[in-house]
Amino acid sequence: MSEPRPAHPRPADLPAPAADLNALDARIWPLNAARDPASGALTLGGVDARDLAGRFGTPVFVTDPADVRQRCRDYSDAFGDDANVSYAAKAFCSRAVLRWVTEEGLGVDVCSGGELEVALSAGVDPEKITLHGNNKLPDELKRAVTAGVGHIVVDSYEEIARLAFHADAAGARPNVLVRVTTGVEAHTHEFMATAHDDQKFGFSLASGAADEAVRRIISLPNLEFKGLHSHIGSQIFDTAGFEVAAHRVAELAARIHGEHGIAIEELDLGGGFGIAYTQSDDPPDVYELAKSLRAVVAAQCAAAGLDQTPRLTIEPGRGIIGPSTVTLYEVGTIKDVDGLRTYVSVDGGMSDNIRTALYDATYTCALASRRSDARPMLSRVVGRHCESGDIVIRHCYLPEDLAAGDLIAVAATGAYCWSLASNYNHLTRPGVVAVTGGDAREIVRRETLDDLLALDVG
Ligand code: LLP
Repeated sequence: MSEPRPAHPRPADLPAPAADLNALDARIWPLNAARDPASGALTLGGVDARDLAGRFGTPVFVTDPADVRQRCRDYSDAFGDDANVSYAAKAFCSRAVLRWVTEEGLGVDVCSGGELEVALSAGVDPEKITLHGNNKLPDELKRAVTAGVGHIVVDSYEEIARLAFHADAAGARPNVLVRVTTGVEAHTHEFMATAHDDQKFGFSLASGAADEAVRRIISLPNLEFKGLHSHIGSQIFDTAGFEVAAHRVAELAARIHGEHGIAIEELDLGGGFGIAYTQSDDPPDVYELAKSLRAVVAAQCAAAGLDQTPRLTIEPGRGIIGPSTVTLYEVGTIKDVDGLRTYVSVDGGMSDNIRTALYDATYTCALASRRSDARPMLSRVVGRHCESGDIVIRHCYLPEDLAAGDLIAVAATGAYCWSLASNYNHLTRPGVVAVTGGDAREIVRRETLDDLLALDVG
């Protein structure tokens, strides 16, 4: 029998608990998340959460490929045949996922030699890969050029020279986009905004560096200048920032046309499209987003006097993979802190989800091993690391009969959780399991202590 729990006061920034804590809001949970009618346990892709925990251990990331594929189709349909959609692999990079997204017709963005190797080994057509990064290593540039990667987004003058060298050595002529810093202040967390002037990415528009980068590329015979790239940030809900960015990039395109007589073929507006993590989040529907973004680009290109609108590319990462995945944890200790809240400790934490500590990210969770009609209990879900900042969910409600051994699921952990995972405190990184039609298979193996010890060569 669990002890009766005190009712803690609700923090001002926390909405009232949902009428039914067992309900799964379709905007937040994966496509095939449901509750088993008999046991009330959470099922994912038709697999009972308790079976997943028993078979693969916890914590574990559980991914629904049908959800990922549906989002790929939605983005492709919404943006249309005359646009490219490229999955930003940094959100979550594994061979299985790169196969799903490319089977659905998307390209793949990579930002390191490691991600590039995963894509190539998954059989992604090199033509459909774009390489990003503010400090690409010489070997990464060489590998990209020799593998025939479709686009390289250059980010510094040094890199233009290095890329020209490797292209020359390989007898290749890579397609190049120039990453432009548009000076846009995206409305998101400071560490997720990437287009204000005082940061490390791209060539500044304001200083004229972007114009100079284009000049240099055009002067080099073994680089093929294709167009411009801008990425303003991540987890963005309104299109205002994209509008300002498109306006500034279109003006640069007009200057390029004036100076060199070249019409840019491609305009890549990056990723950053926000998703719902909690019921308070209200991101635009992807069709609305596509409609307004396409209109913005056409209008800004026309206003800048460009005869034709360049081909648009977008690079969603979170928007493709984020909502497809949940993390299952087992509840360990439960502690009431008088007058404040109940601390629910789980068997993972900041090593599998650093986003709460790093960006003040918010999440939704639910009891997964059963349903419960007990009263809502104001909770803080914390991990098992030696840090008081090791918080998975700052405020949420769990049923007050929650007990050690219960499973809880945290929704929308597909993007930037596994990919930012660490071995802090020598915890092993969780596996990733794909669930479809009642079957489950590991797509990324859970790490073992032997894996960690194997690296420690003494
Ligand atoms: N393209 C470029 C050039 C990027 O830098 C990024 C993300 C994307 C596309 C994809 O953005 P998305 O659609 O996933 O928002 N770790 C942070 C997010 C960092 C995003 C970095 N760049 C987080 O956990 O929220």
